[in-house]
Amino acid sequence: MKRIRIKEVLKTTPNNQTVVVKGWVRTFRNSQFIALNDGSTASNLQVVVDFENTPEALLKRITTGAALSITGVLIASLGKGQAVEVKATSFEILGDSDAERYVLQPKKHSLEFLREVAHLRFRTNTFGAVFRVRNSLAFAIHQFFNERGFVYIHTPIVTSSDAEGAGEMFRVTTLDVNNPPRQEDGRIDFSQDFFGKSTNLTVSGQLEGELAAMAFGDIYTFGPTFRAENSNTTRHLAEFWMIEPEMAFYDLNDNMDLAEELLKYVIQYALTHHAEDLELLSQRLLEEEKQKPQAERSELSLLEKLQFCLANNFERVTYTEAISILRESNHNKKKKFNYLINEWGADLQSEHERYLVEKHFKKPVILTDYPKAIKAFYMRQNDDGKTVRAMDILFPGIGEIVGGSQREERLENLVTRMNEMNIPTHELEWYLDTRRFGACPHAGFGLGFERLVLFVTGMTNIRDVIPFPRTPKNCEF
Ligand code: 4AD
Ligand code: MG
Repeated sequence: MKRIRIKEVLKTTPNNQTVVVKGWVRTFRNSQFIALNDGSTASNLQVVVDFENTPEALLKRITTGAALSITGVLIASLGKGQAVEVKATSFEILGDSDAERYVLQPKKHSLEFLREVAHLRFRTNTFGAVFRVRNSLAFAIHQFFNERGFVYIHTPIVTSSDAEGAGEMFRVTTLDVNNPPRQEDGRIDFSQDFFGKSTNLTVSGQLEGELAAMAFGDIYTFGPTFRAENSNTTRHLAEFWMIEPEMAFYDLNDNMDLAEELLKYVIQYALTHHAEDLELLSQRLLEEEKQKPQAERSELSLLEKLQFCLANNFERVTYTEAISILRESNHNKKKKFNYLINEWGADLQSEHERYLVEKHFKKPVILTDYPKAIKAFYMRQNDDGKTVRAMDILFPGIGEIVGGSQREERLENLVTRMNEMNIPTHELEWYLDTRRFGACPHAGFGLGFERLVLFVTGMTNIRDVIPFPRTPKNCEF
């Protein structure tokens, strides 16, 4: 007989039909009741074992973590907490789990501890929910873009350019690091490296994405990106996934509209398809918040926060307006910011972003028209000579979730800016070609996938929304 997933079994009307289920034991009570989980849903299936007619030695092997195959009849449950249960007629232990050594015994484990056993944490309620939601968010993103005729482009992982011009790259090389070939002046000779030049892991697929947008009109990328920035925070990973749409004939307003629509679409998708998982995660967050002083607890539950995001238009404000709000704020006057806001031109820290979103506007905010000095070379320059057509979307509890801009499509302006910023134009001739042959206004943005998952699941550390996080001094599994 074919195995049925527990999610299906739980939805089936019981009628003494025979079913086969397979999964892992969460708990085994009174030598009789197995709580079986197969990852298809947060809920366990109750399996009742005929313990009087089962050898003691076999019962002993039904331990937490063991893999079981069970054949039984589906009946209405007499116990509380579930509609149906399976009365086992036979079962087989597929894989034992040594209770002495298996660390995930049924009790509360801290998220920090579970991070250390990330190879097993998929099997907990919390991480089961997180990674099912993560999967659905990825699916919803593809669906959103495909419904709108966007072409999914796979941009390279290994590149020879620095898309952001920020120099935060991981080098890729096959040279002998202990004895690399050198040029006469002593510098390493990368012409002898695998690709015949210096290469690195990509920080963004945007530049290649722009090339494709100049042919397909609307494209998006969705892939891993790498940043060697030494940021040990709850919002930064060295390896993260990014979604980067790029649209020909879009200006900054079109860009903001699309980003807002995308975020609302995927949040709605999660709410529609993951009521049970989100309820569980909402409870988890409530428990976590109880540990905090009253003043630091959020006013809304996770589910309310998600609904709130759907119900409100994101506030669109210029950087210049934001700076004056921050400068005039009591927070700034009372010196409660670690970085005080005095001057126009200051880069915003996450404390400022969160102040604007959580304290001032109390909803998602889109900041636009940043000073050119703190943004990348490819952003379209405004006529004021000081600002660029940038946009960052700021979310409660997260800070920046999206970064994007209208692009500088005017060749001369772009080259001038690259020279000012010491971006070598000869390495990016292919990029400049799009400005030589059929240049047009265009725009795009990058959505940090883990930051999105963080927001939707209400988890508080980005290390808990990617299966195997890579952060400074940490690359386990
Ligand atoms: O603002 P960023 O650096 O923008 C770009 O890379 C552009 N090329 C995007 C574009 O216009 N196509 O990164 C975009 C988003 C951020 O808003 C943030 O959500 C996420 O990527 N991000 C990170 N997420 C996790 N860990 C990190 N170290 C991240 N750095 C950026
Ligand atoms: Mg950014």
